Amino acid sequence: MKHLEEDGITFSTAKTVFYNPAMRLCRSMSSLAVGAIGEKLEVVDAFCASGIRGIRYAKENKNVKKLTFIDIDKRAIALAKKNAKTNKLKADAVVGNISRLAFEHDADFLEIDPFGTPSPYLVDAFRYFNTKKLAYLSVTATDVAVLCGGKTAACMKNYHSRPMNNEFTHETGLRIMLKKVTETAAEFNMGITPLVSFSDKHYLKSVVMVKRSADLAYDSLKQLGHISFCNKCGFRSSGVFPERSCANCGAENDYAGPLWLGELHDPSFIGKMLELNQKRKYADREQMDHMLSLMLGEIGMPPYFYNVHALCKLQQLKSVPKMDDILAKLRKSGHKAVRTHFSPVAIKTAAPYKDVLGVLGWKS
Ligand SMILES: C[S@@+](CC[C@H](N)C(=O)[O-])C[C@H]1O[C@@H](n2cnc3c(N)ncnc32)[C@H](O)[C@@H]1O
Ligand SMILES: [Zn+2]
Repeated sequence: MKHLEEDGITFSTAKTVFYNPAMRLCRSMSSLAVGAIGEKLEVVDAFCASGIRGIRYAKENKNVKKLTFIDIDKRAIALAKKNAKTNKLKADAVVGNISRLAFEHDADFLEIDPFGTPSPYLVDAFRYFNTKKLAYLSVTATDVAVLCGGKTAACMKNYHSRPMNNEFTHETGLRIMLKKVTETAAEFNMGITPLVSFSDKHYLKSVVMVKRSADLAYDSLKQLGHISFCNKCGFRSSGVFPERSCANCGAENDYAGPLWLGELHDPSFIGKMLELNQKRKYADREQMDHMLSLMLGEIGMPPYFYNVHALCKLQQLKSVPKMDDILAKLRKSGHKAVRTHFSPVAIKTAAPYKDVLGVLGWKS
């Protein structure tokens, strides 16, 4: 047994129970999201392991009115119970498979944090919302190699979507995960609104609001589509269907999808998270502030980005222009251009591709 501390919360871990300190930022972001929701919530931490997530959500936010731990491993549940007690928290703790327990528990906020893909759990996740008109799903995928293009067959199998292994693959992977959430929600007559979504280290994460309405379910489905990409010239585009050939050079395109083409974040929600982050003394506060500010800029931008290094390589440029210069030039030409949390060397812009290259004096 080891005694640890994460962002001011003390808890114990055991060799037999999973705990990854590298997920601290993920837990902090999610806890901010719980706080930003504001409404009173029944939280189910469905893959709880040591219970550190649920404990942090309940200790750091006033709006958690009930906390339930679920884990298939009885050693995890014993530890989560002990950790809740150490933190003077009341929590229900249940040993079992989240799929089997789906008919016995209701949640306003469900945390899905499995090993690897969340896909096989999504249908049962939505059953936790059976009695709800409005709920929140917090979902993590750590099968990044699958979602981000390394394993096409596995992605087709788990997500029914084609991934794409290129310079903006992490955004594509996140959007494929959201597509699977959208489709599953629709089967339950629920529409989704992503509140905050991000890529960090080895995982992809999104917190989505789900609302029961056949119309909203259909509206969400209408936000699905494809992204096409030309490996030869770097041109990219999005639409309901993939484009067979490149609109810039005529070469055959690669494509990804179906995937979520809608927004990844809600601006007022991110605003609330930013405010809350200022009031908390998280170890990752600065990094989170930076990421959340970048996410705000991503809203309203195309569902892909430009990795400046990759573009320069493709264009056989000898040197890479400074990020600030690129942004300034694009803005001066009347185009909106921002940095993105997905990569420190990438930009998002709605400028046509020819302008992206032209404004920098590159050959198109
Ligand atoms: C990645 S860990 C969760 C980490 C934890 N949420 C955290 O932030 O520290 C996954 C946990 O899910 C549990 N688990 C795996 N399959 C499960 C299932 N079908 N139902 C419930 N728990 C499951 C495992 O025993 C493990 O403790
Ligand atoms: Zn092309």
